[in-house]
Amino acid sequence: MKITVIGAGNVGSSCADVLAHQDAASEVVLLDIKEGLAEGVALDIWQSSPIDRFNTKTIGVTNDYEATACSSVVVITSGLPRKPGMSRNDLIEVNAEIVKGVTENIIKYSPDTTIIVVSNPLDVMTYQAHIASNLPRTRVMGMAGVLDTGRYRAFIANELNISPKDIQAVLMGGHGDTMVPLPRFTTVCGVPLSDVLSKEKIGSIIERTKFGGGELVKLMGTSAWYAPGSAAARMAEAVARNQKRVLPCCVKLEGEFGLEDVYVGVPVVLGCNGIEQIIELKLDEEEKQLLHKSADAVREMMEVLDSLRKGNKKNH
Ligand code: LAC
Repeated sequence: MKITVIGAGNVGSSCADVLAHQDAASEVVLLDIKEGLAEGVALDIWQSSPIDRFNTKTIGVTNDYEATACSSVVVITSGLPRKPGMSRNDLIEVNAEIVKGVTENIIKYSPDTTIIVVSNPLDVMTYQAHIASNLPRTRVMGMAGVLDTGRYRAFIANELNISPKDIQAVLMGGHGDTMVPLPRFTTVCGVPLSDVLSKEKIGSIIERTKFGGGELVKLMGTSAWYAPGSAAARMAEAVARNQKRVLPCCVKLEGEFGLEDVYVGVPVVLGCNGIEQIIELKLDEEEKQLLHKSADAVREMMEVLDSLRKGNKKNH
């Protein structure tokens, strides 16, 4: 069982490292365009195997897609990260080209794989990978909800001074300022969040979560990598090991939640067939409105991608 990670930057390296440490596959292939980078990172990870006691073989290659052949899962992290002052949407033009090229190369060697997109702007890059791959929608998904609920749960854990492990949460919508954390579906070991935190506190945690990526860009001068890498690795593991995990992932909706032809985060079941089920939570009016507003924001960016694609066709 092989999992490929494209891009040996911060997120890709962290994702490969988590996959190896989890023994999530027999082999993890890390690919980058920069000569020697993926080889170095993979070797470094592999040298921790005797220390941390794992078997997953980590192999790094420079732009050699043949080495990725027959991957069960491919995680795409390629593209530019955000710099301070940038929104995720500022990356669309350059990252769309990169994600398109990467996807086409992946499909050449792994035509039946499952793709997990991490590149930003996340929802639109998932759309790009979906059309470039020609795979069914169940085989192409974006990583954002696992990361965003991770942030949300971490903030709740801090506020309550309890273990983040015991907080369950779901979050929907696009990976941007319009994302929709759902306190009504958040519990502390089954106890509703509203029983243990005030409305005001919950509100400020939701606001911090929405801008959680930006908070880190400001602090570090580039975007985050540990939590994004772990989130993508958990999704890849769920597919590779057929775990049937219930996680919020970005997927193309075809009528679910009253939304058509738009890529947004929703709770799904992840197994060896990719997205095996979309869980249609019963949202109240306010939640529905927020989700639709978030979907509108994603649609706007999908239109930007559509016009870029049309422009490119004209130029050729
Ligand atoms: C973030 C980037 C990975 O939210 O989108 O940190």
